[in-house]
Amino acid sequence: MNKITGKLKMEDLFSERVAGMHSSEIRELLKLLDRPEMISFAGGLPNPDAFPIEKMKRVVSHVMEVHAREALQYGTTEGHAKLRHVICGGMDDHYGVSGLDVKNIMITNGSQQGLNLLSQLFLNPGDRVLTSDPTYLGAILTFRSYQAEIESIPLDDQGIRVELLAERLAYLEKAATLPKFIYLIPSFQNPTGVTIPEENRREIYRLLEKYGLLLIEDDPYGLLRFEGDHVPLLKSMDVSDRVVYLGTFSKILAPGYRVAWMIATEEIITKATIAKQAQDLCTNTFGQYCVFEAIYHDVLFPHIAEIVRLYKGKRDCMLTSMDRYFPDNISYTRPQGGMFLWVTLPESYDAFKMLSSAIEKNVAYVIGTPFFPNGGGHNTFRLNYSYASDDLIEEGIRRLADVIKAQ
Ligand SMILES: Cc1ncc(COP(=O)(O)O)c(C=O)c1O
Repeated sequence: MNKITGKLKMEDLFSERVAGMHSSEIRELLKLLDRPEMISFAGGLPNPDAFPIEKMKRVVSHVMEVHAREALQYGTTEGHAKLRHVICGGMDDHYGVSGLDVKNIMITNGSQQGLNLLSQLFLNPGDRVLTSDPTYLGAILTFRSYQAEIESIPLDDQGIRVELLAERLAYLEKAATLPKFIYLIPSFQNPTGVTIPEENRREIYRLLEKYGLLLIEDDPYGLLRFEGDHVPLLKSMDVSDRVVYLGTFSKILAPGYRVAWMIATEEIITKATIAKQAQDLCTNTFGQYCVFEAIYHDVLFPHIAEIVRLYKGKRDCMLTSMDRYFPDNISYTRPQGGMFLWVTLPESYDAFKMLSSAIEKNVAYVIGTPFFPNGGGHNTFRLNYSYASDDLIEEGIRRLADVIKAQ
């Protein structure tokens, strides 16, 4: 415990956890993105054209007419019982995850809160978390805020490189420093868009069994598949309770509701409930009622089909424009779903330096480096295709190609 004596300055009061939190140069640059003439592929936002506004108006009216007394009230910390119940059924019908009980499900304020709760439950300062390189920035920030050591294993177009993961786990077991958990986004990963194929998922599950490990399967994009076959969830292989699953309505309905779900053992859900009570008492009750009624009145699944149609068109538009305008020495992923693709420039390029020239030409992307927990990726960047209109996607890619060629 720090000794508090005399007249302290504000910086002396911040916890050790906060000491490592800095505003970054990239955040300063991103402020320029508000310019109306900017074509931004930098955000990670769903397209507002994809919000089912008229249908949700009717859902909201229904909630207010029929359920206002409960929907405007505090709710239970675990979440709206009917919503948890319908998620149980949905996980079986749509994902082949059977045998769940409502006691295995907690509703959270976005899956970002799920990540935070799990970190609070499992991570002491200095504990190890294993993930892929690159990985979701929000997860890196959360694990760091609990002072975890993040170790990352490179990925390729098949997701995390399973042979390297196996080697590393063998080494860590010998050194008695196995991770507290592995964190992966197996389908249409943020930031790269890549998906782990079934045989690799089975191998990852085998490693969990071999070393007795826990894995967080973060799955915001799995239902946004444009083509190709569904790949079974790690959770659907989970005969030994080694996988905690995070799902969210943010990308398949609307992020404004902040409604997501966590699936875990009853023991984990009970502990997470106590932790959540201290964080926020309960998830937005009104949002939970709206989401439940959207499912009950069959708004959700037709709407997902609509988003898939819209985003597939945008993905196609971006890839066609890249194939047309980008020089041959630039490689990029070709995701079968989700919202992002990933660009790798030749080694000698610097995506951060190039961003100033891009912004001068009113086009923006997110540089790759922040997605690498231990540095690297200077020649990479992420493009989001869900937000801009098709015309702007083509124009933005053309401008970006000019910037790349000028390097
Ligand atoms: C991989 C990943 N996990 C979690 C989240 C957070 O989602 P939510 O809106 O449910 O908090 C995001 C949001 O972009 C994400 O990409």
